[in-house]
Amino acid sequence: MTEIPEHLLKRSKERREAAAGGASSGTAETAPAVVSATSAVPQTVASASAAPPPPPPDPSYVVAAKSRKKIPFWAMATLSLLPLWAMLYLISLSPEEKVIEGPMAKGAEIYGSCAGCHGAAGQGGAGRVLSGGEVMKTFPKIEDMLNFVYTGSQAFVSAELPYYGDPNREGGAHAPLSYNGNPMPMQGEKAGGGLTEYEILGVVCHTRYVLSGADRTSEEWLEEYETWCSPESEIFAALQGGSTSFDTIDKDFTMLPKPPTFVGSEARAATK
Ligand code: HEC
Repeated sequence: MTEIPEHLLKRSKERREAAAGGASSGTAETAPAVVSATSAVPQTVASASAAPPPPPPDPSYVVAAKSRKKIPFWAMATLSLLPLWAMLYLISLSPEEKVIEGPMAKGAEIYGSCAGCHGAAGQGGAGRVLSGGEVMKTFPKIEDMLNFVYTGSQAFVSAELPYYGDPNREGGAHAPLSYNGNPMPMQGEKAGGGLTEYEILGVVCHTRYVLSGADRTSEEWLEEYETWCSPESEIFAALQGGSTSFDTIDKDFTMLPKPPTFVGSEARAATK
């Protein structure tokens, strides 16, 4: 049985006495306080005596559940790896990485090997600036740029060519080794580099239309873009398939609306 705690009994006694005393002094002002004080007493007592009986003892199956060994400490650590497992599982479900197609996509991939010298955005560094229209000024014709990137600048020095690209370039023609004396390394396989011709076409397209920012929809560049750099470029496909090369490209594509001129795999002066 619940017993009314000692301090409650004491308090209630005090209140009762206070109420009795207040009533005898009996001013109009203190009267409401007295009323509330007296009415509080039974409440306290009532709530104390109406406390619920203690809960019945747990049935045996609850006792069993409570006394059973808890989840082992390592379970949480193991479970916390579940999302990781789920992720790996999902990754293994997703389809194979898409095959990169077209010159622009190929070029973006290849440009990683140029970025160390030319900057990720072509802003320049150990190598010349390629962004902001600069390469379009040096190489108004894509054939000349393909040739230069294929051979690199040392080949131009060996061939005693005073310039690469357009000799009438806005801002002055570019002589080989004129940029802090650093050479542009050869890229094409026959010149001793590591890139195939379609890879060179790809990276040149990326440089012209992404880094340098030539407008592929403009009257000036639309035709070049369609012929060389669009995903439908027959030249890119033929280079990839091996049915043409930089040395024969001008003869292999005479049927195009704007046939390519000679590219070549050795250093040469820019075509007019
Ligand atoms: C080791 C550093 C280095 C790497 C790597 C490099 N280049 Fe260069 N590049 C240069 C230098 C230096 C020049 C200036 C050459 C000169 O003055 O003879 C240059 C010049 C050029 C030019 C001529 C720009 C102009 O307007 O005169 C182009 C285009 C170019 N590089 C493209 C590329 C591409 C594309 C790649 C990657 C396939 C590449 N470069 C990788 C150092 C580099």
